Amino acid sequence: MKISIIGAGNVGAISAMRIAQCGLGDVVLVDIAKGLAKGKALDLEDARSILKINYNVQGSDDINAIRDSDIVVITAGLARKPGMTREELLAKNSQILKEVCLSIKSLAANSVVIMVTNPLDLMTYLALKVTGFSKNKVLGMGISLDASRFANLISEELNLQPADIDAVVIGAHGEGMLPLAKHTKIKGVSLEKFLNKEKIASLVDKTVGRGAEIVAFLGSGSAFFAPSAAVTEVVKAVAKDEKKILGVCAYLSGEYGIKDTCIGVPCRLGKTGIENIIELDLSEEEKEKFLHSADSIRNLLRQLPVG
Ligand code: APR
Repeated sequence: MKISIIGAGNVGAISAMRIAQCGLGDVVLVDIAKGLAKGKALDLEDARSILKINYNVQGSDDINAIRDSDIVVITAGLARKPGMTREELLAKNSQILKEVCLSIKSLAANSVVIMVTNPLDLMTYLALKVTGFSKNKVLGMGISLDASRFANLISEELNLQPADIDAVVIGAHGEGMLPLAKHTKIKGVSLEKFLNKEKIASLVDKTVGRGAEIVAFLGSGSAFFAPSAAVTEVVKAVAKDEKKILGVCAYLSGEYGIKDTCIGVPCRLGKTGIENIIELDLSEEEKEKFLHSADSIRNLLRQLPVG
């Protein structure tokens, strides 16, 4: 199994480490910055003797290194700089990712593509359109990270183990996300049985604001430890053909009453990528919020350099 990661920054490099250490396949790390991916790959391999795990990580500044990959993870791009508008970021990352996706199309035509770069839902749509791959083979990692953040905050509130909490988040990755209390279960019991509405609302707000909270503390850059753990979980589901249900950004063609939009929903993942889209039973209020979240993505689709 050949797993390529484009972008050897914080998220890309730590994803490479986790994927290699989990034994999911041979890892190729590519970055446009000369020497960066090669240096990080050598450093990662130097730990093999201490860890007593035999993995391979190759680093390169040549995109041709991704040739014939089974899985391609995209973490390349720019982070928002002070003074830069969201539209400017969108325009810059779209240009970077258009090039990257054309390379994936020609070099790794049979791969499953996992988008990580933000704005996630728009970049996933761009990757789907530029590669022309079938819709099951292009997905985005975003809401499984949001669900992990929601679960973590719930576990702290209730003094429970995070692993006992099955948190569900759908919608856009970002401010438009929708943590779903009714569908979030603790050993099969809905979160609504554990906490009152006000407490749940405050945990939802904290979850939505978690990325920004981390950015504010870091001073520069954004989160990478939990994002790389979430990337690894998605890669594992595909690489090991796990048939596991995870929240990912998927292309909808009628599910949830939404068409021609990529947005976060629970999906069954396996070796062909998205094998099923799971349609949750949403209340009227949840449906309305979800459609609103989809509208916020759709309104920006025309700014993408596709078609
Ligand atoms: N090809 C390959 N690598 C590229 C290209 C390109 N065309 N353009 C930029 N890069 C590389 C940069 O050189 C940099 O090393 O992408 C890397 C991005 O790394 P960071 O700036 O450290 O960003 P990171 O924190 O890893 O986040 C990457 O993931 O979670 C999202 O919002 C986050 O969109 C961001 C992405």
